[in-house]
Amino acid sequence: MSSVPSAIELRDIVKRFPGVVANNGVNLTVRPATIHAIVGENGAGKSTLMKTLYGAHRPDEGTIEVDGVEQHFRSPRDAIAVGIGMVFQHFMLADNLTVWENVVLGQEPGSSLRLNRNEARRRLSELSARYGLHVDPDAVIGDLGVGSRQRVEILKVLYRGARIIILDEPTAVLVPQEVEELFASLRELVASGSTVIFISHKLDEVLSVADAITVIRQGKTVAEVHDPSTVTARQLAELMVGSELPKPTTGASTVRDEKALVVANLTLRDGTRAILDDVCLEARRGEIVGIAGVEGNGQTELLECILGVQAATSGRIELGGLDMSGVGTRVRREQGLGYIPEDRHHDGLMLSAPLWENAALGHQTQTPAAKGAWIDRVGLRRHTDKIVHDFDVRTPGVDVAAYALSGGNQQKLIVGREMTAAPKVLIAAHPTRGIDVGAQAAVWESLRVARAEGLGVLLVSADLDELIGLSDRLLVILRGRIVATLDPQTITPAELGSYMTGAHAGVAA
Ligand SMILES: Nc1ncnc2c1ncn2[C@@H]1O[C@H](COP(=O)(O)OP(=O)(O)OP(=O)(O)O)[C@@H](O)[C@H]1O
Ligand SMILES: [Mg+2]
Repeated sequence: MSSVPSAIELRDIVKRFPGVVANNGVNLTVRPATIHAIVGENGAGKSTLMKTLYGAHRPDEGTIEVDGVEQHFRSPRDAIAVGIGMVFQHFMLADNLTVWENVVLGQEPGSSLRLNRNEARRRLSELSARYGLHVDPDAVIGDLGVGSRQRVEILKVLYRGARIIILDEPTAVLVPQEVEELFASLRELVASGSTVIFISHKLDEVLSVADAITVIRQGKTVAEVHDPSTVTARQLAELMVGSELPKPTTGASTVRDEKALVVANLTLRDGTRAILDDVCLEARRGEIVGIAGVEGNGQTELLECILGVQAATSGRIELGGLDMSGVGTRVRREQGLGYIPEDRHHDGLMLSAPLWENAALGHQTQTPAAKGAWIDRVGLRRHTDKIVHDFDVRTPGVDVAAYALSGGNQQKLIVGREMTAAPKVLIAAHPTRGIDVGAQAAVWESLRVARAEGLGVLLVSADLDELIGLSDRLLVILRGRIVATLDPQTITPAELGSYMTGAHAGVAA
């Protein structure tokens, strides 16, 4: 090799948490101006390792070298000072501020934002044009879709001068079109001398974009792939979990006559703008109905209206033949409505509460949580133990707080909670987002079993293979309207993508 030092050299990193050794001697070498992927099972220690490199955790043992110089970061501020930036698994933008305010926030201490407005906007536009990270600097974050928010996070990191950019599962939230755009930006960054480290569970993507791959298993580096063209996704999965790549399939139809869920003429307006426009759909018992759409076309609001946390402007929702007009979320839940939310941190978990409390969230009024007017702690602990076991939630116990779980294990806890409540109707947003290939297969299997027993499912997912593989019927949502009904047996991901963007002939605008 040349005499150019590695951009990053992590040696024998050990990081312990109470009851867990998250990193147990990890080694990582990243060459400058490359895209380096890190893969591994849920809970393998990937996020912990990157937070350590970013100065958010102090390693218990081991050394960190950046550009050949040993570093002892006390906080992210120290890491930022040597050019490291990180975009977290969960975004950290202020919803009520604009794009440029978020980018500048925390950057200009002591000076008024307004004074720097023009300069900030100029630098932001420059970065955005240079790397193809297109955003409107004056847009309010709360109005932006996931893809745009992510571009803002990356711009924020670049604005602070990062040359080594860490992205924790950046593609989990993106649709295929956005993934391509992100990768183009990453290649642009690398071409201009920056180094990118990214974590992903999507092994095909890893193989298509990474210059090198490090595989982590149970807190240790188990493989270094210097030439990704020499391995297959299957081999990579075997290195990670020791099993083959599963596929989402549901097999023979189990659709029954009874309607589990009916949505009739549902309209949701924000002022004069229609967020949902006369949406009609139904899911029968034993049927999985997939909703395909580019993020921000009304799918989130559709699920929120069905759950009852948003009130529709007009239209009707029925669960198991009962009209839910004027009925609150709690009663809908008691009617057997299961819910896997899009944002597990905001809507799915109480992060500082122990797992056993989280296992009752949304089901507090039902057994096993409730015993008359009381919470049944013993019953709930036992119930949580069962979820942890059946859904393979990797945790030291049910008394740890939800924040201490890895992202994928938090997701498994939510899926386990909703599935063990034996729902009649399940509305699921990205149920396998961020979970590893082995755990994904287990979630698909639990959906298959429940479907065969009569569960009706409304499935929103950005993973088109998952949508096509699991759904009995596919609907496409575009600008708040259902614009197509497709047969998952015959549609390809590429065709589905063109329906989603409205490019397919015959899709009414
Ligand atoms: N703040 C914390 N407190 C206690 N334990 C933690 C904390 N953060 C992580 N852990 C534990 O460390 C281990 C590694 O977690 P980490 O988040 O690094 O996994 P990961 O590889 O990123 O997984 P995923 O793919 O699910 O995101 C897990 O067992 C997790 O429960
Ligand atoms: Mg993680």
